Amino acid sequence: MLKIENLSYKVDNKTILNKINLEVPKNNIFAIIGPNGAGKSTLSSVIMGLVEGNVEGNIYFEDKLINDLEIYQRARLGMTMAPQQVADFEGITIQEYLDLSKKYAINNWFDDKEKVLKLVGLNPQKYLKRYVDNSLSGGERKRVELASILFFGPKFVILDEIDSGIDFTSIEDVGKILHILKEKGATVLMITHNEKLLDYAQKAALLCNGEIVKVGDPRSIKEYFEKCKICQFSPNSSNFNNN
Ligand SMILES: Nc1ncnc2c1ncn2[C@@H]1O[C@H](COP(=O)(O)OP(=O)(O)OP(=O)(O)O)[C@@H](O)[C@H]1O
Ligand SMILES: [Mg+2]
Repeated sequence: MLKIENLSYKVDNKTILNKINLEVPKNNIFAIIGPNGAGKSTLSSVIMGLVEGNVEGNIYFEDKLINDLEIYQRARLGMTMAPQQVADFEGITIQEYLDLSKKYAINNWFDDKEKVLKLVGLNPQKYLKRYVDNSLSGGERKRVELASILFFGPKFVILDEIDSGIDFTSIEDVGKILHILKEKGATVLMITHNEKLLDYAQKAALLCNGEIVKVGDPRSIKEYFEKCKICQFSPNSSNFNNN
């Protein structure tokens, strides 16, 4: 579904992503783990077309080369993401925000906003009229993002630390949404440090210092990550080769 070949990305001559090769199979939940600063969010931004220039290599979506496509063109192909740092939309209510996702939907999975808000663990009576701004808590904002994704009905979605801000006891809510995404036929690239969420993944990759170090089943990748000395280097003081 998503194929990445020799992908490199530099900022001010500093290599952030180095010759990444990755294949995310259709209808898989594919996890990426790695230490802080490894390049996970940057990889998400590059896949979605959110960075300017300095990208080398190829990104294929359903066998189509998408390197030169703008973000909205990638969205029209059915790609979306829930970023690690979600944006505020001043003056837009949750109801209007979900209507927008529905308007541009790729797949018509849901019609009922109340049902979807309940699915993501938000009480519709309390939240439909609330604004998508910083009056929402971090966890509430992440849940709104999940609701928006369910209305958009993507073919492919990147969830970048979607569980951050969502309390430990509610992590099963995220698991439930992952289950729905898979059942509906979506492909998920899930960036997480959470072992519980790794249980939902079919495959995983370890990203260290801008490089894919290992790909395999999520358990073994997690164990490898915990043992792997190279990942313990901080990104900027490591033996990372910038040449
Ligand atoms: N525009 C930029 N200019 C300079 N450095 C950048 C820029 N964007 C990213 N970086 C650096 O690239 C590295 C990777 O950042 P990124 O946010 O992708 O890491 P991450 O793996 O998502 O980390 P975390 O687990 O903390 O979210 C970091 O060292 C970061 O400081
Ligand atoms: Mg990140």
